[in-house]
Amino acid sequence: MLSVVVLISGSGSNLNALLEATENPLFGAKIVAVGSDNPADGLAHAERFGVPTFVVSPGSFDTRENWATVLMANINHFKPDLIVLAGFMRILPSNFVGAYSPNLINTHPSLLPQFPGGHAVRDALYAGAKTTGVTIHIVDEGVDTGPHIAQREVEVLPDDNEFELHERIKVQERELLINTVRDIAQNKINLAAISK
Ligand code: GRF
Repeated sequence: MLSVVVLISGSGSNLNALLEATENPLFGAKIVAVGSDNPADGLAHAERFGVPTFVVSPGSFDTRENWATVLMANINHFKPDLIVLAGFMRILPSNFVGAYSPNLINTHPSLLPQFPGGHAVRDALYAGAKTTGVTIHIVDEGVDTGPHIAQREVEVLPDDNEFELHERIKVQERELLINTVRDIAQNKINLAAISK
């Protein structure tokens, strides 16, 4: 059984989808803890499923590296095989990335390398993109630059606003994230090979 720690910053709909999917023992992965950089609403999903949670806020530390060290101590307590960033809106320093990558994946709401960063959906709309989507990738030391694991396209509709487009992306994102974690758990995706 692949043990997974999920990190979130917001509403946690991707987390909730993963919690539901991993209830099935045949899925092959189990969420052992959920962490956040703030008291995020999405932590309630973990609590509902009886999964332990932790919050480590960067504001309490003098450097990002010191913050990451304490975040890592919380994660390591659960001995995960995989860390999933599911709407975790912080850039992780190299001590963190070096400790876990390639077993550290992120979901991003665009077809990378287009529209990296924290405003991917807005940026796609402003750029007049006809198609955007979602990318699941291995986290490296850049911002949304790591090797791609899976992508799915989503059409931009003529009168889309940011919220509506993001909601349609998230429908695809949840399914793609579930399938990706399942395939990692079932050895159909080899993260070490993708990261080479
Ligand atoms: C997702 O679209 C994620 O890719 C982005 O923020 C959103 C988080 O949604 N970075 P949720 O918290 O899982 O509902």
